[in-house]
Formats: sequence, structure tokens, C-alpha cells
Amino acid sequence: MLRKLLIGTALGSGLAFAAHAQDVKEVEMLHWWTSGGEAAALNVLKEDLAKQGFAWKDVPVAGGGGDAAMTALKAMVAAGNYPTASQMLGYTVLDYAAAGVMGDLTETAVKEGWDKSVPAALQKFSVYDGKWVAAPVNVHSVNWLWINKAVMDKIGGTEPKTFDEFIALLDKAKAAGVIPLALGGQNWQEATMFDSVVLSTGGPEFYKKAFNDLDEEQLKSDTMKKSFDHLAKLVTYVDPNFSGRDWNLATAMVIKGDALVQVMGDWAKGEFNAARKTPGTDFLCYRFPGTDGSVVYNSDMFGMFDVPEDRKAAQVALATATLSKSFQSAFNVVKGSVPARTDVPDTDFDACGKKGMADLKAANEGGTLFGSLAQGYGAPPAVANAYKDVVSKFVHGQIKTSDEAVTQLVNAIEDAK
Ligand code: GAL
Repeated sequence: MLRKLLIGTALGSGLAFAAHAQDVKEVEMLHWWTSGGEAAALNVLKEDLAKQGFAWKDVPVAGGGGDAAMTALKAMVAAGNYPTASQMLGYTVLDYAAAGVMGDLTETAVKEGWDKSVPAALQKFSVYDGKWVAAPVNVHSVNWLWINKAVMDKIGGTEPKTFDEFIALLDKAKAAGVIPLALGGQNWQEATMFDSVVLSTGGPEFYKKAFNDLDEEQLKSDTMKKSFDHLAKLVTYVDPNFSGRDWNLATAMVIKGDALVQVMGDWAKGEFNAARKTPGTDFLCYRFPGTDGSVVYNSDMFGMFDVPEDRKAAQVALATATLSKSFQSAFNVVKGSVPARTDVPDTDFDACGKKGMADLKAANEGGTLFGSLAQGYGAPPAVANAYKDVVSKFVHGQIKTSDEAVTQLVNAIEDAK
């Protein structure tokens, strides 16, 4: 109520009044960080801002991958009710910027030299029309395996380096009576896993052409068909209750040793962290077999809205805190991601985090850093949604063959473009 009044006053009275009004010492943030690990990471930010005297108005919208959150955001923005910032992925930032509802953080960015420390792959999405419209929080990558170490030891497994070795490992788990693959049957989780499968099956060039350039020749190729064959094979290792399962519950299956492995972005590591598990001792992180050397990334960004004058100081404080080197280390250590700046030391990161940072650097320099199609960095939201839909229909048997999946993928992407 108070907030409504404040906004009403600021808008109704024009800028002259707003400029003199007392700043609202509050950050309102929409996000989908509701799992244990995510909430712990977000706390790092809340505490940081609290120390500076900013209240936190939380707008959590549960649902990994952020589809529900983005629906909620759309409604808020349509009603003219802009949060200070919202968690957003890649192309979504650009969509809101094109709609003219984002603020302009350029002054702060210039003062703090963001353009020198934030990798170009992220600036492509946080800068629109020469203006900084979002603050990148982290870099996640999706092509990882998360493995329970005790189960791995029990079945005598070693790191699988190829897809066939991965299948052999899953077979060992099955023979030992353990659920081989922990998966949540939600479209974004299935598509996130398929990103890795496609990279593994076709290699880096193929992934880029198919899922970043949307090259139709690649999308309808035999390699894409083979990728769907591989996906179908993986799904045979999932337990019967997987439909609709949340991603963090799938991670919990691995943490508890009920399942051997989850294929998931490194936000899964946030759950291991929250459960006080240590890499190398309790769990193992390997690149998805056949994808070592490439990084399929996404980055959580805080899209900054064009808020009234009296809310801008809080927005700048949020942006400055987000991009600070100490916060980038502290937050990402908890979250499982790696810093969105290239100049943050890896000292405080665990073995998986150190590998994540080294992999990102190498991929960035070597031209093998690719946007995740499932995670909003391969193509605009309409295309990503079409992709998730086709992959999910295939996983759940509504699309019956790899041939049909390829045809539907090509058509769905064409329609969505
Ligand atoms: C991703 C996001 C991650 C993590 C994950 C599961 O889209 O980038 O930060 O939150 O969803 O919720």
C-alpha cells in the first residue's frame, strides 16, 4: 500500500517533485531462486544491501528455468508496476529493452569500468543500444554431470569420456539397483539436458550452427536425429516417477545416493553446498561426456527497470553491489556459478568452481563458448519455448520417433522465428 502511494505520488507529481522526494530505501526484486541453494545465495545479496540500509521486497516466483517468473513479470510490467529489478536470461533482457521499459545504468557502469571486466558474451545481452540495462550476476554452465561419489565407488565407476562410456556407467548403476539418472520431467530440465546431448553428439561447430545460428540444414540433419536417439536412450535410465519433478528434488536424489547422476547446470552445486557436501569427497563434477573443452552457458542478469526517480538510488546500489568483486566471489561460491567478471580470483571457490572458471576462460578464448538454447542464450524466448516444447513431447512419448522430433523441431522453430 505504502509503495503504491509512493509511486502514485512520484508519477503524479512529475519529476521536479520526485527529484526532491526522499529516496525510497528499498529494492524490489522478482526472481525464481526458491530452492535451498538459490535462497542461500540470494541471502548474500540481501545481507549486503541490508548493511547499506536498503530493505528487500521479495517477489519470488517458484519454477526453475523461470517460465512462471517471466509470466508474472509480464503482468507486472503491463500494469505499469515495475520492480527495481528482475532476474532475467539473455534474450529476455533484450526484449524488455526493445519495449522501452528498462532503465539506464550506463553512468554507474562507466564509473566502475564494467565494460573492461564483464566478458563480451555477457555484454551482448546486458547492453542495449549502447546503454547498460542489466547487471550480470554470474555465469552458469549447463554441460555438467553431478555424481554421488559413494555410489560411484560402489559400482566401480570412472569418469565417462564418451556417450558410450556414459551409457556403460548408467548400466552399472542399474545393475546395482540404483536409479541411474535423476531427472525432473519438466520441459526446461529436459531441454537443458538436451543442450548437452546435442553438443556431445555433434560437437562444438554443430551446436553453434544448430542452436545459436538456427541453421536449418543442421536442425534437420542426421546428427540432430542421432541426438534425439541419444536422448531417448538416456530417458530409459530415469525412474518412473520423474514427470513434473522439480530440479532440486532430482539433485536431492543424487545427494542422498538414491540416484547416481544428474545432468544439470551448475546451480545443482548450490544444492550440494546447502547440504554441506564437498566435491571429490561426497560428489563429483564432470563435464557431460564428449563436451570437455566447450562451455554452454547462461547468465543470470538483474534487468533494471525504468523506475521513478526516488527509486533510482536503490537501483544503483543494487547494481554496484552486484558487480562488486567481493560480492561476485561470495555469491557465486554459494550459488554454484562462476563470476560474471574476468578479474575475480578463484581462491574461495571449490574444485568444481575452479574448473568452471578455468573452463569459461579457455572456452571464451578458444571460441567454444556457446549460449544455451534451453536457458535463454541461444535464441529469443519464442524459439526457446518452441524447442523446450518439442524436446519435452519427445521425452514424454507424444512425439514417437527421432525423425518426427526433427521435423517438428524444424517447423516449430521456423514458426517461432
Ligand atoms: C536457471 C538460472 C539458475 C537457476 C536455475 C534453476 O534458469 O539461471 O540461476 O536458478 O534456473 O532455478
